[in-house]
Amino acid sequence: MAFKLTINHKQETVDVPGDTPLLWVLRDVVGLKGTKYGCGIGMCGACTVHQNGSPIRACLTPVSAVTGPITTIEGLSATGTHPVQLAWAELDVPQCGYCQAGQMMSAAALLVTHPKPTDAQIDGAMAGNLCRCGTYLRIRAAIHKAAAATPAKAPATTASAGAPLKPATAAANK
Ligand code: FES
Ligand code: FES
Repeated sequence: MAFKLTINHKQETVDVPGDTPLLWVLRDVVGLKGTKYGCGIGMCGACTVHQNGSPIRACLTPVSAVTGPITTIEGLSATGTHPVQLAWAELDVPQCGYCQAGQMMSAAALLVTHPKPTDAQIDGAMAGNLCRCGTYLRIRAAIHKAAAATPAKAPATTASAGAPLKPATAAANK
């Protein structure tokens, strides 16, 4: 079945079964490999992308359930100069790097809803994104740095019908 998607401001038509996870559409059909497969069950956050600006789990979102524009790590900025990307680079946040696309997408969404987040807000928003390399402290520092470089503005996100962050995953990352 053909599905029309907007991915990183570009129109894409994909011909796949409706239950195909968005993650496989992004990686295998559209060719955007920046979004990673970690667990496939919504527990790690490696596959985090934005739908209408809100973070969703691409591994749990069937393509038939996509209801709005999708942004992947490749579309976070045209030039790699999103405040999150700059802060990540400046603080050398990644270690192996595998989780970091998902981390940055969650961080970018957080800064839209909370331009100057507290530690508690960062921990809450990022709790579903696991990092086997334990880069959590650098991630938190980078989010503060990105926040300092981000002018405060009204939230631009809208409600998302994709697979949301799970409270269980938040608890798992404490
Ligand atoms: S691969 Fe989607 S949450 Fe782990
Ligand atoms: S940097 Fe290696 S898993 Fe996060």
